[in-house]
Amino acid sequence: MTTLTRKEILSRLKDLAGPGGYLEDRVDVEPFEVDFRKLYKGATPLVLRPDSTERISKIMKFCFETGTAVVPAGGNTGYCGGATPDESGEQIVLSLARLNKIRSVDPMNYTLTADAGCTLVQVQEAAEQVQRLFPLSLGAEGSCHLGGNLSTNAGGTAVLRYGNTRDLVLGIEAVLPDGRIVENLKGLRKDNTGYDWKNLFIGAEGTLGIITGAVLKLFPTPRSYGTAMVALRDLDASVELLSMLRERSGDAVTTFELIPRLAMELACRHIDGVKDPLDQPYDWYALMELSCATDEVQTQELLETLLGEAFESEVIQDAALANSGAQREAMWRMRENIPEAQSHEGPSIKHDVSVQVSRMPAFIREATTLVKKLVPGCRVVSYGHLGDGNVHFNLSPSEGDRDPIFLEQAKRVNHAVHELIAQYGGSISAEHGIGRLKRDELAVYKSEAEIQLMRAIKAALDPTGIMNPGKVL
Ligand code: FAD
Ligand code: MLT
Ligand code: ZN
Repeated sequence: MTTLTRKEILSRLKDLAGPGGYLEDRVDVEPFEVDFRKLYKGATPLVLRPDSTERISKIMKFCFETGTAVVPAGGNTGYCGGATPDESGEQIVLSLARLNKIRSVDPMNYTLTADAGCTLVQVQEAAEQVQRLFPLSLGAEGSCHLGGNLSTNAGGTAVLRYGNTRDLVLGIEAVLPDGRIVENLKGLRKDNTGYDWKNLFIGAEGTLGIITGAVLKLFPTPRSYGTAMVALRDLDASVELLSMLRERSGDAVTTFELIPRLAMELACRHIDGVKDPLDQPYDWYALMELSCATDEVQTQELLETLLGEAFESEVIQDAALANSGAQREAMWRMRENIPEAQSHEGPSIKHDVSVQVSRMPAFIREATTLVKKLVPGCRVVSYGHLGDGNVHFNLSPSEGDRDPIFLEQAKRVNHAVHELIAQYGGSISAEHGIGRLKRDELAVYKSEAEIQLMRAIKAALDPTGIMNPGKVL
């Protein structure tokens, strides 16, 4: 352990971060001490903002030698408090914000190499410039970082077709807790040379090292989209429709998002310019999108044919098809603003759960009955990525209720819903990760052997436990 004083450690870290490479004034540091959902308020004496992998390597080597704990920070849009330091005031925050260059784009290899501090939109736009698609897409894309997306293995709205972030990565560059740089940025689609170590860092939420760059897979840009807001016969019809659309469209369904009536109402109430695209209210909707290599007319025809059949067979009751880019955008705006709209109705008790797609309707029904018994009068907004078997099963208090007692029930409700999800063979965190929020729940739902394996990996990579302590495990 070090003989340096805390002041000397901080001073040396500032030197290593270089000019403009750190923040220490309270006003600058404070945003890094609170998580996006304001669940945690931590404390840090210093936010480092190095601008190169080499600097990060030197910083980590020094932190390793001095036993200084490091919390990596991306865009701070994570939902589980993973990028927030604890209350001790001892942990240093390491922000990737200045490591933000697109390193290269190779349209023929369908790859893009970027620094971890690029925003997701920056990556999407760099791909668009060479007529390629980087399909990861989520509501926070303007501010979340690529490094945060990798570290949380983010999901989003195109997983059904393109997979989670993990599926979009060919290689990464990372700095180990002792400062060594490990790198595989060759952009190869086939490489069976031993352990696939990149996947240890993807989804590790900063507990094993710092991701500094990645080679990402690009895809052909679809020539046309067929987007519709459909009114479902009932909840079971969601799975029937999805299955039929996948089969009949040649698996061209990119998005299939479940939306309950209440979410539609809240979005119309709270989000400027959002309107219900259908004339009548329905209990359940799906926002669905096909993306195709055919031209617009053919895609619209395919969509109309498929939805016509769904109507005939009474799987759907009505549908609004987007006939222009503006209409498509309006439907997406409605969907992406559901979390924002719900936040105007008071605090929410949230769950981010997954089950097999086919079991989702039964789970939603049973979970709704369960929580209504636990919190009489609560309003359930169960929406999201049905195509991936993942919903955000969120509760709002009854209309106008602002009693803080509502949130005090969160732990009890979370646990009951997680018990149910376990009975369904599902997961307590489909896409938002574990962080600090679900750490204790993780220990309940993973087997002893899995936790031991995870601890062994942690001990091998971070033997002194300086990487994001208190998160995940
Ligand atoms: P941060 O919040 O900064 O960090 C997240 C975790 O990653 C922390 O543990 C941090 O320590 C670690 N970390 C960050 N950068 C690095 C790095 N370079 N190296 C090592 N560790 C690092 N998530 C989804 O999956 N799907 C969605 O559809 C979705 N929609 C959202 C919509 C909104 C409006 C908001 C606010 C959030 C949404 N999220 C969603 C959650 C969030 O945006 C994602 O988890 C995102 O991937 C986090 O990225 P970030 O850069 O903000 O990470
Ligand atoms: C979403 O799908 O909208 C997010 O993952 C959930 C949220 O932002 O609450
Ligand atoms: Zn989501």
